[in-house]
Amino acid sequence: MADQLVELTGITKSFPGVKALENISLDLYAGEVHALLGENGAGKSTLMKILSGVYQRDAGTIRVKGQEVEIASPKAAEALGIVIIHQELNLCKHLTVAENIFLGREFRNRGILDKKRQYEESRKILGDLNIDLDPNTIVGSIAVSKQQMVEIAKAISVNADIIIMDEPTSALTEKEIKDLFHIIRLLKSQGKGIIYISHRLEELSNIADRVTILRDGQFVDAMRFSSPEEIQGNLEGIIAKMVGRDIKDKYPRTDAPLGDVVFEAKDICTLTGVKHVSFQLRRGEIVAMAGLMGAKRTELVRAIFGADRKTSGVLRIAGKEIVVNMPRDAIANGIFSVPEDRRRDGLCIKMELYKNITLPNLDLSSKRGVLDHRQELELSSRIVETLRIKTPSLTQLVKNLSGGNQQKVVLAKWLLRQANVVLFDEPTRGIDVGAKIEIYHLMNDLKKQGIGVMYVSSELPEVLGVSDRILVMCDGRITADLKTSETTQEEILHYATQFKGDIA
Ligand SMILES: Nc1ncnc2c1ncn2[C@@H]1O[C@H](COP(=O)(O)OP(=O)(O)OP(=O)(O)O)[C@@H](O)[C@H]1O
Ligand SMILES: [Mg+2]
Repeated sequence: MADQLVELTGITKSFPGVKALENISLDLYAGEVHALLGENGAGKSTLMKILSGVYQRDAGTIRVKGQEVEIASPKAAEALGIVIIHQELNLCKHLTVAENIFLGREFRNRGILDKKRQYEESRKILGDLNIDLDPNTIVGSIAVSKQQMVEIAKAISVNADIIIMDEPTSALTEKEIKDLFHIIRLLKSQGKGIIYISHRLEELSNIADRVTILRDGQFVDAMRFSSPEEIQGNLEGIIAKMVGRDIKDKYPRTDAPLGDVVFEAKDICTLTGVKHVSFQLRRGEIVAMAGLMGAKRTELVRAIFGADRKTSGVLRIAGKEIVVNMPRDAIANGIFSVPEDRRRDGLCIKMELYKNITLPNLDLSSKRGVLDHRQELELSSRIVETLRIKTPSLTQLVKNLSGGNQQKVVLAKWLLRQANVVLFDEPTRGIDVGAKIEIYHLMNDLKKQGIGVMYVSSELPEVLGVSDRILVMCDGRITADLKTSETTQEEILHYATQFKGDIA
């Protein structure tokens, strides 16, 4: 038997109004990947925050390499060889990549910051990880997927032997995921132990040796696997244990009569790389925007919503030209957007849950210009119920919600309004299987109401599963407009890689 690195026994933790963990046990051996699974709010991050010194447990014991320990802080965890890659990125956006990697552990030469060494060391780590990034780049200026890779580089640079990855892949490109798996295998072969949290269950079979499933803070089951095929074969069962019921239809769809063109974009160009994009959305249809990471899909959505400037192009709602220079203009025209980077663009995380929902809807919860507090609570409670947002109360601060439940709050705030078009950018990122299905149902509901729905997704099964039509983008252009019922993954990929010389 390999060495036991971690043994958690009987871990219990409560927050005001929530029993986040009850009597949870989990161990980790050298050279294995132990996947920790469960729905949004199941307690995965909380358990890992306890192991990494961010939270303190209420009860239970923690053993690291056989020794019973107290882990009073992240620093103390690091001293024990434990490092965590957090689910929500924790980088300082105004600092460079190198400064972020060595934050708090800066190299000094006779007391003076050794920037050169920091740069060189960062370059080496990034190189090992196959990340093409200049260490002097300011973190705030790079894509979320790159930021995630910086977070990973940072964790690996600590040289810990217990590595916790809390949804490391939710924002990564296919290639980056491959690189990460390669690194994980390397770490395994070096005898490190990895606890791995992910909602992308398809990827488990590539790396996991064991899984532990939590539900509502309770232990449900643990299993060990000896081959990828064995995991693949057990996936349905794993999902059923996660959500506590059988899931029949992972991609529900509703038919709705196809209506008039509700939205039209014509010849949209932006400084961010969108090139002459034109398309139409009809009432009662769901259109997926497929493409590789970097295809400028997010840039297109941002331009339509007025978050970025358009250098050319016309937008029409129901045939009538509209002017959208700011998100406010889009909202006034019934165009809503659920952004990709929810922490930055979609939420006020230090505010209460219900405030986040009512903030863009104050007109709905005011009477003669005066805010009606009861109305605010009523509106938000309805939507919290519809989306099954897991929270002890409406006044919970958003930062205390689990990652997936935060994503639902971003959705929630738009659902109170009469929309013409709803644009979703990677709406199910970080969301558990059960909640994903709820979001698909929600899109179907919008479709039935005659709202034009468009969603950006990087997961092909999701692209094909929910949409009626698929627009494929590559390098800022639309390269195909496909009927979902008549296309395949291969065809989509073909168009997603149709690069051509820049002949604007
Ligand atoms: N600091 C906190 N204050 C109050 N409640 C919290 C806090 N942190 C977590 N919780 C609650 O504890 C429960 C477990 O949350 P946790 O973040 O561990 O879930 P998770 O399994 O990681 O979910 P996800 O997949 O959405 O990330 C949730 O109900 C959450 O709202
Ligand atoms: Mg979590």
